Amino acid sequence: PTPIIFDTDPGVDDAQAIAIALAHPEIELLGMTTTYGNVDVTTATHNALLLAELAGQRIPVAQGAAGPLVKTRFPPPKHIHGDNGLGNIELPEVQGRAETLSAAQFIVEQVNARPGEITLVAVGPLGNLAAALQLDPSIVERVRRVVVMGGSIREGGNVTPVAEANLFNDPHAGQRVLTAGWPLTLVGLDATHRCVLDPDSMARIAAGQGKLGEVLAGSYEFYKAFYQQALGFDGCCPHDSCALAWLMKPELFTAVDGHLTVVTEGDAEGQTIFAPADRPFIAEHWSRTPQVQVCLNANGPAVVEWIVETLS
Ligand code: BDR
Ligand code: CA
Repeated sequence: PTPIIFDTDPGVDDAQAIAIALAHPEIELLGMTTTYGNVDVTTATHNALLLAELAGQRIPVAQGAAGPLVKTRFPPPKHIHGDNGLGNIELPEVQGRAETLSAAQFIVEQVNARPGEITLVAVGPLGNLAAALQLDPSIVERVRRVVVMGGSIREGGNVTPVAEANLFNDPHAGQRVLTAGWPLTLVGLDATHRCVLDPDSMARIAAGQGKLGEVLAGSYEFYKAFYQQALGFDGCCPHDSCALAWLMKPELFTAVDGHLTVVTEGDAEGQTIFAPADRPFIAEHWSRTPQVQVCLNANGPAVVEWIVETLS
């Protein structure tokens, strides 16, 4: 199995992805690290613990960033994920507690214990990965790969015309993480907007996931209502699950190599700008950001089928 640390702000679509990380036989979930984003960080930690418990598993959860590195925090999108991050459905009590280590300490410790093995899958604002880099810059050499759900190259944004939520929430952290020089794959809106989790698919998931399925299905209804109202379709984009789909089934995505930067100030803050590796530019500094891989498309129906199969 592929050992991963899942960095998350659960979050309805985060919860779906957590269920995949817990269920997939080829994924070894070493721990979850939590960040503010869809909710405040204590709620994120609560939800991460709860989702694992509902699946009957004890997974270490280490709490991290309570806000962005530099900018003023943007309020959590309660109309999308609910006040509790899981569509305002009633939730059972949590039994476990978070680790005493911070998210960044947990990442550094795990990565150094298994050099070259661990993939960091980050599906929230990127403050925890930025903090881990600051704590021990040498982890860049020892992480197997970083997979980020975030950003948008040609698709436009979902918070502003140009910015996707995870990068918009902490563009400074995003800039450090995307240009750190570790092997990195960006799975942004260009891929995730091709994927629609429709009600039939969710019904199959709910049937296969027991108690966890009830939470996934209940929170999905709330999330779907937002999609219906804002975007006019019956379903939702399973953004965060797409990062895991890329990890396990990269052949379902179209990825290209190149160089990324994140706009950190002004009206375009959070925008991800991409220069394909094979395209020459007159301003040469572009070619000096480390090369990463960016998904520019996905086979949406096949990704959704993989999600449903994994969870049903
Ligand atoms: C991303 O933003 C969050 O609201 C979702 O959980 C996902 O990680 C999509 O833009
Ligand atoms: Ca998320």
